[in-house]
Amino acid sequence: MYRILVLQGPNLNRLGKREPSHYGTKTLEEIHREIESMGHKEGFLPVFFQSNHEGAIVDRIHASGEDGTDGIVANFGAYTHTSVAIRDAVLSVGHPVVEVHISNVYRREPFRTKSLFSDIAAGTVGGFGPVVYRLGILGLLDLLERKKPGTTSP
Ligand code: DQA
Repeated sequence: MYRILVLQGPNLNRLGKREPSHYGTKTLEEIHREIESMGHKEGFLPVFFQSNHEGAIVDRIHASGEDGTDGIVANFGAYTHTSVAIRDAVLSVGHPVVEVHISNVYRREPFRTKSLFSDIAAGTVGGFGPVVYRLGILGLLDLLERKKPGTTSP
C-alpha cells in the first residue's frame, strides 16, 4: 500500500474561515477526512502534516525520506513563492512531489505566479478548490504505478 504524505503549509489550518472567496468553506479537517475515505477506496495510506513554520516543514520532508513515504502531495502555501530551504529539502529526498493550490494563483496577485517548486514537481494541480488534493493524489498514484519495477509503460 502506498504511503502518501499530505503536506500543508502556513495558514492552511485556517481553511473554512480564511478568505472563502479564494479557498471555499471546507475546513482542513473535512478535506483530510475526504482524502482518508479516498484512501480506503483506492488503497493508499495518507499521512497528514500541517505547519506554519518553514523549519518544521523542512524537517518533515527530511523524515519522509526515511519513513517509507512513497510520494508527497503538498500545498506549500505562501512558501511556494519564497522558500529555497523547502525546495532544497524536496530535492534531498528521492520520492516524487505533487504541488497543489486550492486557488488559481494565475488569477491573483502577480507575485503568486512564481513557484519555486513547479520545475521540480512531478506535476501541479491548481484552481479547482479543495478537490485539488484528490486530483493530485490520483496523478501521484498513477505515476507510482508506472514507476513500479517491471512496469514498461511511459
Ligand atoms: C495557496 C496559494 C498561495 O499563494 C497562498 O499563499 C496560500 C494558498 C493555494 O492553495 O491556493 O496560502 O497555495
